[in-house]
Amino acid sequence: MKAVKVSPLDLVEARLIELTEKNHPLYPSLFEAAKYSLLLPAKRFRPLLLLSLLEDFQIPLEVGIDPACALELIHTYSLIHDDLPCMDDDDFRRGKPSLHRAFDEAQAVLAGDYLLTYAFEILVKAPHICCEKKIQLIERLSSRAGAEGMIGGQVLDMTSQGKRVDSSTLNEMFSKKTGALLGVALEFGAILADLNQADQHHLYHAGIYLGVCYQYIDDLLDEIGDEREIGKPLGSDKANKKASSLTLFSKEKVKEEAYRHFQKGVEELSNLSSAAPRVLTLFEKCFYRTK
Ligand code: IPE
Ligand code: IPE
Ligand code: MG
Ligand code: MG
Ligand code: MG
Repeated sequence: MKAVKVSPLDLVEARLIELTEKNHPLYPSLFEAAKYSLLLPAKRFRPLLLLSLLEDFQIPLEVGIDPACALELIHTYSLIHDDLPCMDDDDFRRGKPSLHRAFDEAQAVLAGDYLLTYAFEILVKAPHICCEKKIQLIERLSSRAGAEGMIGGQVLDMTSQGKRVDSSTLNEMFSKKTGALLGVALEFGAILADLNQADQHHLYHAGIYLGVCYQYIDDLLDEIGDEREIGKPLGSDKANKKASSLTLFSKEKVKEEAYRHFQKGVEELSNLSSAAPRVLTLFEKCFYRTK
């Protein structure tokens, strides 16, 4: 009988369900809240970047599935906190009420904290990966998701609210708040596939450029997207006086900037010692996305 090939996306969805089959008799709401946000329909872009790279380098996907899920947990925690009233104050996410609306603010803060912490536990316990590589993954993730990366970018985002920032500050903010996690997804792939330092470097930078492109498109979709398709409220950036790319540039220029960064990312991919066609396809999907 011919074996049915399971897609990387199906693998991620199935593993996320398994990883969230947790409970505690005294505080079941923590696990319900985390599951609510994590298991709503989402693009799973960060896990897919990692798994596509493994496919391109003929590494079995089972090696990367838990690290891929750890990235999705970190990403989901960042969205839960990003939507809180003290940040972007958004009531919808992934097509449903944001976690602080479906539950309450304290539960949303705590579920976010739990997902962040649990991501590192998943990495530590991941099968098929030696201890030395696990330390590398943990080191990379803590740095990219932390003050030098995603959190730093979110702070810049909040402190830029109501201000007019220049384009280099904007790109710095985008490369941190969104690029750092895409960069580490590709770095994870490089570590798990034993790629050399030069390839790791190209992949990280490719991820950063892609993240900047991703955020330009996100800013655009905030204004001209289809609310049902993107699953979050339109006009949030304007309502919050965000230093979005649309406060600096016209829509056409934003699209041009997204394309310029997409191309820079593709150029980094072309410098790899061997081709990464599946990763390249994902880069294209990111630029042309409508959600
Ligand atoms: C939204 O992330 C936040 C940004 C970094 C722009 P995604 O667009 O990847 O959202 P999901 O994960 O598919 O919900
Ligand atoms: C979110 O950027 C980036 C992170 C959560 C790290 P946005 O605030 O633009 O994302 P959305 O538009 O709410 O998804
Ligand atoms: Mg935000
Ligand atoms: Mg937001
Ligand atoms: Mg946005």
